[in-house]
Parts: sequence; C-alpha cells; structure tokens
Amino acid sequence: MTRPRLVVSRPLPESVENRLAAAFDCAFARSPDDAGRLAERAETHRADGLVVCLNDPVTADLIARLPAGLKVIATYSVGFNHIDLEAARARGLTVIYTPEAVTEATADCAILLLLAACRQAHAFQLQMQAGEWRGWSGTGLLGGDPGGKRLGIVGMGRIGRAVAHRARAFGLDIHYFARHRLSAAQEAGATYHASLESLFRASHIVSLHTPTTAETRGMINRTSLSWLPDGAVLVNTARGDQVVDDDLIAALHSGKLAAAGLDVFAGEPDFDRRYLDLPNAFLLPHIGTSTIETRELMGEHLAGDLASVFAGQPPRWRIA
Ligand code: DGY
Repeated sequence: MTRPRLVVSRPLPESVENRLAAAFDCAFARSPDDAGRLAERAETHRADGLVVCLNDPVTADLIARLPAGLKVIATYSVGFNHIDLEAARARGLTVIYTPEAVTEATADCAILLLLAACRQAHAFQLQMQAGEWRGWSGTGLLGGDPGGKRLGIVGMGRIGRAVAHRARAFGLDIHYFARHRLSAAQEAGATYHASLESLFRASHIVSLHTPTTAETRGMINRTSLSWLPDGAVLVNTARGDQVVDDDLIAALHSGKLAAAGLDVFAGEPDFDRRYLDLPNAFLLPHIGTSTIETRELMGEHLAGDLASVFAGQPPRWRIA
C-alpha cells in the first residue's frame, strides 16, 4: 500500500522525523536551502502534504505552485501568521497546527521572561560578565516583586490561561482583555476588561498572548504604552510584529517601562539590534516551545492529524 507523501520544510528532532517516517513517505530537509525550495520539492516528491515551521512563509504564490494532488499543510507551531489562509482555503487545502502541544512550555517561557524582567536579570548578568560584581550590596539596582502586582493578560486563550494559572502562584492579581469574556470557570477569578486601554491602565505587568491579526499588529505602540503606569513591565511570547520597536525601545530608555522580557521579534531573526543595548531588556531567541517534551508532543499531534486527514477523518486541530 502506498503511503501518503510528505515534504518537511526543515530538520525536526530525530524522534519526530522517525515518527513521521514510520507513517508517511517523507522527504526531509537535508540542506540549508531546502526550506526555500518547498514548491520544487513538493513537485519532485509528488507530495500529498507539506510540513512547515513558523519561519516558512507559505504565501499565495507558493500555494499556487504546490502540486495539484496536495491536500494538507501542517505547521509545526501554534502560530499561523506565516500561512496565507485565504489562498489555502481558496485551493481547498486543509491546514492543521499544534495549539495544544505548545501551551505549557510557552506559558513557562512567559513566566521565565516575567520573572527575569521584574528582577532585572539582564542588568545583573551584564554586571557579572563585565567583572563589576564587588560583593553583596544593600544598595544599587533593585528589581521589583511580581507578588501583589496586577498582571494584564492580552488574549486569554489556552496559553493566556496557563500563564494566569502559574502567575497566581507568584501572588499576581490576574486581569485580562479578550474579544469575549470567558466563563466564570475559565476566568478563575480573573478580572475582565472590555478594552486594551482599560486593561493597560489597571496593569503593572502585561503579557501578550494574541495571534497577529490586523487588530493586534502594532498594538504595543506609543499610545498603548502611555496607558500603562510608570515602571510597568512587558512580556511578549506571542509575535514580534505586535510591537512597534521604536516605541518600546523609547519606553525602555525613558523608564516608562522598567523592563521587558521578549521571546519574539519583528523580522526575526533580524531583530532590532538596539534591544541589545538595553540592560532592562531580557531577550530570548524565540524558544517558547523549545523543550524536548514539547517538540515531541508537537510531532505526535501533527502526525496524528495528518493521518486523520489522509484517512478522510476530521483532524483535531484545524485552522482551515
Ligand atoms: C509557535 O509555535 O507558534 C510559537 O511561537 C513557538 O514559540
């Protein structure tokens, strides 16, 4: 029996590649150029499905060049802003993703950034690296306690709620803004705000958990930052293009923001290098899901849903 044929854009963990190879006839990426040659590889392999990552732009042009028999695009990510969903739908393609697999690791990463930003971890690391540590001191730079502060969560989906759950253990009072108010059980005592402005005016710390859409692109800008109290903290594990870098950098310089913890950047990996000069910016290179367990679970979920699509069954996690 012939197995469905897949083209995989980039190298994935060995265990994930093995899982895919056990179920499908796979063309894995083996050269650094492979991600840029997706249409050509899909044609050569006569692919039934394409596995992509969040850094593979799946444009209308690419979709138009995919082989006629291709049925499904599977993204190894929760984010899907790299895929032209309208073009995929217009071609009748199914698009699947891994929302449930990434929740815990991404929420952990947000808390890592939140704590590091509140405690000025980067500034202290710089002191150590520069050989400027002269021993314990009662004076000098001080961070802030998260406990007792209000955490404003923008987007209260799976990841936002997982962050809220963790943040309560640090004594944070949870507030949120989302398109719709959650049920009381999902809110778990969090305070709903009907607008971003209302949330920002109430929050000492803000954490972003929204997909990039026309509404959220550039949402963190001079105006929205001005709604925050002086000395606030921003955490971003969502997408970099939701932030206007000029405005965030100015707020970090002026002290309007005490600190930021950022895992995602506009134009990554070519992020705005001015962040590197800011001791109050704690930066990570988009590692929200980079744990062994999470990457394996993402592979398990994608493989399961690919099998469903090829068997004519509804996938569990479908975007289009
Ligand atoms: C995703 O899966 O889209 C996340 O951004 C990874 O951190």
